[in-house]
Amino acid sequence: MIHTGRVTYDPQHDLCRMQLDHTFWNDRYLTGETGWDLGGPSTPLKEYLDQLPDKDLRILIPGGGKAWEAEYAHRLGFKNVLVIDLTDAPFKELLDRCPVFPKEHLIVGDFFAHQGQYDRILEQTFFCALDPALRSRYVRHMPTLLAPGGKLVGVLFDDPLNTDKPPFGGSRAEYEHVFAGHFASVSFTPCHNSIAPRAGRELWLCAIQSVVYEPIDCSLYDTYEAAATKREHVHLTMNDDVIHDGIIVDLYIRDKAEWLRLDNGTELRLDGIRKMDSRRSE
Ligand SMILES: C[S@@+](CC[C@H](N)C(=O)[O-])C[C@H]1O[C@@H](n2cnc3c(N)ncnc32)[C@H](O)[C@@H]1O
Repeated sequence: MIHTGRVTYDPQHDLCRMQLDHTFWNDRYLTGETGWDLGGPSTPLKEYLDQLPDKDLRILIPGGGKAWEAEYAHRLGFKNVLVIDLTDAPFKELLDRCPVFPKEHLIVGDFFAHQGQYDRILEQTFFCALDPALRSRYVRHMPTLLAPGGKLVGVLFDDPLNTDKPPFGGSRAEYEHVFAGHFASVSFTPCHNSIAPRAGRELWLCAIQSVVYEPIDCSLYDTYEAAATKREHVHLTMNDDVIHDGIIVDLYIRDKAEWLRLDNGTELRLDGIRKMDSRRSE
């Protein structure tokens, strides 16, 4: 299992005063207070996976918990299914159920610190588990993880639910407001295949990343190239406000998009960078 990052979010919020951190979620698994757990893949995601022919798709399941959908996808033959969760407690059960699931695809860490490129990201009771103050950060971070044409799909509650503790719900109008402007297209449609207790209370989310990568301005590209040539130490602020530090060691094209690599191995898509500050490295 891979351990990455730390929980970096700001706990300040008008309504939720709980620290929804590793300890909170780990304790829920240790005490068995896992009311959200369906004991199998959710029907909407199961049926979505059933109709995907390409088993090479890179799939991420954030906040995957016991990862029933990941196990299902793995058994269907999908080879690149990754799960990230703050705690490894639920992964132990997954590995008991499915010992051949690749351990290196189980990432223990903070979704907001995670980097990668995926063709599909599956949402299943992760968005509703987050402090609502983090919703705008969720929609800013998702596009940084999606390859051109990639999709974030899954279910969101169409129900107000709680205001002081998870699950936090919402409505189509609220979600449309939060997701606006971050994807090439976003739709929220009433979910027709929810499990019985959630019937009529779920929306099917489909948010699509633009197929075409919009190259960044040439003069901006030149500044990255110059910083690389001069081996300047750069601070790169991403569109989702995460900051990366290091020396740019490579600029290249992958998946029809422009990327850079820092000396610590971090790879960043150039259109995901909002600001660069630099100083000459000694
Ligand atoms: C309500 S549970 C849902 C688990 C699973 N998706 C399911 O439906 O059974 C929310 C999960 O999100 C995880 N989680 C919460 N915040 C996270 C974060 N910032 N990064 C990664 N995982 C997180 C929790 O540890 C927990 O396993």
